[in-house]
Amino acid sequence: MTEPGQPATGQPIHDAAAEAAAVAAPAAALDAQALIRGRRQWPLPKQADPNAPLLVVEHLTTRFKMAGGSVKAVDDVSFTLNDGEALGIAGESGCGKTTTALSLVRLLPANGRIGKDSSVKLFGIDLAKKSEDALRRYRWREISIIFQGAMNALNPVRRINEQIAEPVELRLKVNKADAMKRAGELLELVGIPARRGQAYPHELSGGMRQRAMIAMALACDPAVVIGDEPTTALDVMVQAQILELLERLRRELGLSLILITHDLSVIAETCDRVMIMYAGKVAEEGAVSVIFRTPRHPYTQKLIGAFPNIHADRRTLDVIPGSPPDLRDPPPGCRFHPRCPFAMAVCSVEVPPEVTFADGVRVACHLYPGGSDGVPVTRPTKDALVQPAADTGLGAGAFGDRDEAIDELEAAVDPAPSHLLTPGHGLTDDHSLDEIQ
Ligand SMILES: Nc1ncnc2c1ncn2[C@@H]1O[C@H](COP(=O)(O)OP(=O)(O)OP(=O)(O)O)[C@@H](O)[C@H]1O
Ligand code: SF4
Ligand SMILES: [Mg+2]
Repeated sequence: MTEPGQPATGQPIHDAAAEAAAVAAPAAALDAQALIRGRRQWPLPKQADPNAPLLVVEHLTTRFKMAGGSVKAVDDVSFTLNDGEALGIAGESGCGKTTTALSLVRLLPANGRIGKDSSVKLFGIDLAKKSEDALRRYRWREISIIFQGAMNALNPVRRINEQIAEPVELRLKVNKADAMKRAGELLELVGIPARRGQAYPHELSGGMRQRAMIAMALACDPAVVIGDEPTTALDVMVQAQILELLERLRRELGLSLILITHDLSVIAETCDRVMIMYAGKVAEEGAVSVIFRTPRHPYTQKLIGAFPNIHADRRTLDVIPGSPPDLRDPPPGCRFHPRCPFAMAVCSVEVPPEVTFADGVRVACHLYPGGSDGVPVTRPTKDALVQPAADTGLGAGAFGDRDEAIDELEAAVDPAPSHLLTPGHGLTDDHSLDEIQ
């Protein structure tokens, strides 16, 4: 697993400034880590390595057993979350975002299994190897989750403050009176007057219930909070308030956040880094400021092109033809190849390796092979393109004229401001796809 700013094994860093920054980074990172860890209300767990990164997920693979086979919902996913950082995870429905989140806290449905080579290291402690009993000491206390549709998960017959106090009492072993006091403080923290804690869930609005769920996720002062679509069921105004709240909590508590959402504008506004998933795998991962300006992976480009709010001046939205594959039988090679207008012959045969570039962006696409500097090495011609697979439902003319599709794809990516790009990084005018044809 490589970290942002570091090359994958065997990949040279081509940019001298990035190289210098990568060498200088550890000291600065440790300072920031100490500052954020200093805000913790509780000491680190006994087995923690104080110098370890906050969360390092490596080769996470999760299957769901089903009659007559299994679904590999998450396939060899790796990423890092540093102290105080917000990582957004995006991708179409069914690409494995929720399964990734549930695997971290091991709250999978009964038919879910995590692969034995997977590791989920929190402060260097591998949670994937812990027994269920041992894991309970970390779940909620060190890593908590706001579930998809969470506001409906509150117990309807218990008062809000009692529900928030319960994990504090149980996990932190404090007495009931102190736990209730903390519940009141947490409610105030998320913008609900403490006295409203006497209410039952049905007496609160949707936005208030979602705030209460966030208070619950924060109850034990966890090191990592995962929000799985935490604002989806809310109206736009309340969504904005909840996101503002998460932003404030990040600033004030040094919260480290994994935010799963379909809404790319939320990631653009809230997160430092973004990980784009497709069919259970990582397509691209890196700094929001780089990826949203110069997406490299064709799927990322399509996803951004299909999103209405990123480029407000665009009149027509892109569509991604077809749909994600059935994970019981995913396509060979690159799983995106049946939908990719750049697909080459190799794409339907070989799984593209993940390559990390000098700007810290990691991409899994044959257009960017190991040893390259982040500029696509070839532009496919009509002859090189594979035909869309029959089982995707995409006919031969699904992309219309392929050159037109490629032009559209390029047009979907706004050129990055020159100060963000160094030669060789991204689709600049100097290094366009046309030029390297
Ligand atoms: N309990 C289960 N049994 C079998 N397959 C499952 C189970 N839960 C999820 N899956 C499958 O795993 C894959 C990933 O699902 P997941 O819920 O993680 O996707 P997601 O990216 O969170 O989607 P969404 O954006 O719709 O929430 C999908 O193909 C889904 O059908
Ligand atoms: S160019 Fe090939 S490897 Fe890259 S996304 Fe398209 S199909 Fe996948
Ligand atoms: Mg989901």
